[in-house]
Amino acid sequence: MPLTLQSLPQDQVPLRAFDTVGLPALRALLSAHAAPIIGAEAMTGPAEALPGLDALADELAASGRGLIMVMGKGGVGKTTIAAALALGLIARGKTVHLSTTDPAAHLAGTLASEVPGLRVDRIDPKIETQRYIDRMMTAKSPGLNAQEQALMLEDLQSPCTEEVAVFHAFSRIVNEARSAFVVLDTAPTGHSLLLMDAAGAYHRQTLRDFEGHGSGRMTTPLMRLQDGAYTRIILVTLPEVTPVLQAAALQDDLRRASIEPYAWVINKSVVAAGTRDPLLQARLAGERKQMSRIAAGLPARSFIVPWRIHPPVGVVELSELVTDVTAQATQEQ
Ligand SMILES: Nc1ncnc2c1ncn2[C@@H]1O[C@H](COP(=O)(O)OP(=O)(O)O)[C@@H](O)[C@H]1O
Ligand SMILES: [Mg+2]
Repeated sequence: MPLTLQSLPQDQVPLRAFDTVGLPALRALLSAHAAPIIGAEAMTGPAEALPGLDALADELAASGRGLIMVMGKGGVGKTTIAAALALGLIARGKTVHLSTTDPAAHLAGTLASEVPGLRVDRIDPKIETQRYIDRMMTAKSPGLNAQEQALMLEDLQSPCTEEVAVFHAFSRIVNEARSAFVVLDTAPTGHSLLLMDAAGAYHRQTLRDFEGHGSGRMTTPLMRLQDGAYTRIILVTLPEVTPVLQAAALQDDLRRASIEPYAWVINKSVVAAGTRDPLLQARLAGERKQMSRIAAGLPARSFIVPWRIHPPVGVVELSELVTDVTAQATQEQ
């Protein structure tokens, strides 16, 4: 914590053994005495039966190419899962382009230089907007006088330009997945839904513009996103009440645009990690409740990633997430 913040008055709220939903739980959350840890149920649940990320990487690799879009709320592990899946596909002999629209995705940058066959880049809204403005000015300004040029530049400096420019970059990346694997790590939900909206608006406009002139042979980015054989959307969530609700809401938004997520990845599972810690064991009941909700039919498929002692950063740690450890153990015997 920065020194300037350390000097402020502080309260600390411990990790509790229960989900903080409902009045008694909220009261217990702030009480000085930690609520007693409820005896850990020795029950087993759906988590034990769920496949890991290695199985997802196997499935994805089987299709040979395509767009893999990793979506979800901030902090659930999108960048981590996207990078791990990219490494998993490389390990399965594929060529991969890992791209991100997340301004906070630092980890991806370090992977590019270390992994042959992996291309990593980032859609930077500022750079894309400048590129777009330059392109428009070069294309349109030659026939204009100085005043008209100044007007056009002013017009292009509106906030809409950034949206259009980012959408252009996004479309470019969507189309690239015709011949290779593209793993797209997205920015938090709101941002990504804007892209989907833009895709929908562009789709409708294109159909109007080309009505009767071969619009039947057109493929817009939205059509590629809706095509389950082309695009696979991986929705990342945590096994907790609010993240599961948010993932379900995002899934509803996508379905309204006729886009069906391929699978959910439940990240940072304590159940999958296994624990003997009494506090964490008591929290397992809450996690299992969420697992059951997910298993009851929210997504078509789900995969699970354990909560790791160290955040999985770097090629070695990320690769472990997409490696079948049981097969490896058998091989070594
Ligand atoms: N399974 C995991 N176990 C432990 N730490 C994790 C796991 N998955 C992600 N993290 C850590 O959680 C933080 C958020 O993950 P990140 O991938 O950046 O999320 P997002 O891209 O969705 O914002 C990072 O510090 C990351 O290293
Ligand atoms: Mg991220």
